[in-house]
Amino acid sequence: MINKKINKDNNENYFISFTPEAQKFFYNHKISKILNQKKHLDFFFNQNEYASSVFDLKSRGYCVIKNFFNKSLIKKLSQRTNNFIKNGKNLDGVRDNLRELKEKKNFYERIWLSNKDIKKMSDKKLKNMTNGITISEPLINFPELTKIFSSDRFIRLLFNFYECVPELTYIKVRKAFANNLPANDTQFFHRDSGSFNLLKAIVYLNDVDINTGPFTYTEGTHNKFDFPKRKLRFTDKEISNYYGKNKIKNLVAKAGDLVLANTTGFHKGLKPKIFDRNVCIANFCLHKEVGFTYNKIVMKKNNFAKLNPIQKLIFKSVKKI
Ligand SMILES: [Fe+2]
Repeated sequence: MINKKINKDNNENYFISFTPEAQKFFYNHKISKILNQKKHLDFFFNQNEYASSVFDLKSRGYCVIKNFFNKSLIKKLSQRTNNFIKNGKNLDGVRDNLRELKEKKNFYERIWLSNKDIKKMSDKKLKNMTNGITISEPLINFPELTKIFSSDRFIRLLFNFYECVPELTYIKVRKAFANNLPANDTQFFHRDSGSFNLLKAIVYLNDVDINTGPFTYTEGTHNKFDFPKRKLRFTDKEISNYYGKNKIKNLVAKAGDLVLANTTGFHKGLKPKIFDRNVCIANFCLHKEVGFTYNKIVMKKNNFAKLNPIQKLIFKSVKKI
């Protein structure tokens, strides 16, 4: 069962990513990472394959790189996600959003469905009851993700942005359902506040168009902490009135493409309208995200042992079992 600390009000009381303290904390970690990684630096020099993507990432706050991953592998992961859900297997906490809605619960008051309930339920009933389902322990249930996020080109891309190798700090594989339930939680605009700079890799497991609930980003908001209100969730109207509708980008992409975003800027997962969306989301950061008590990421010891020293840096703070 998921174990996240939820703030019991709508105040942005852990909104720290833009403060001088957060910046200092980030750069202290950056300096120590650069010093520790000095021996590996040759690997990264003169690697400009993704220079224009990193330029976009730094200026707009996001980039989309076409055909980054092997499409058939990605489709396999999508199929496995569907199978886990169908069999009520390896699922993280699944919320009964329908009952939460009927009982007019606040957004932090959650009602959970048990795996037993889910297994008994028809696909259709389940689909109309919850906004989405998260698969537990992604690096165990999808060991291929370890390879994906430690490929030479992926690490070089992250290095081009951070100027050192970051760590995986959060990962989830999730299906978001297209149903009649209203948008909830991270389907509203928000900022990730756990670091001065935080990169999210969004790996769609199926093709995502405007009807499949793309990841949505407000261009340029990663370096502007100017929004007049401080709270946890924002409506489309609040964001578009302040920044302009043209700054809101629905990042549609195909399975196999990579979307990267600095999620200290305003973002959300758009609620799917017609088609369900399967996605893997992974955060990369130079230190543990501050203010969050995510479930610890775990991976198999023997999978970690197979990695080279540079790859191991990515999974530094992952628990090996
Ligand atoms: Fe977020």
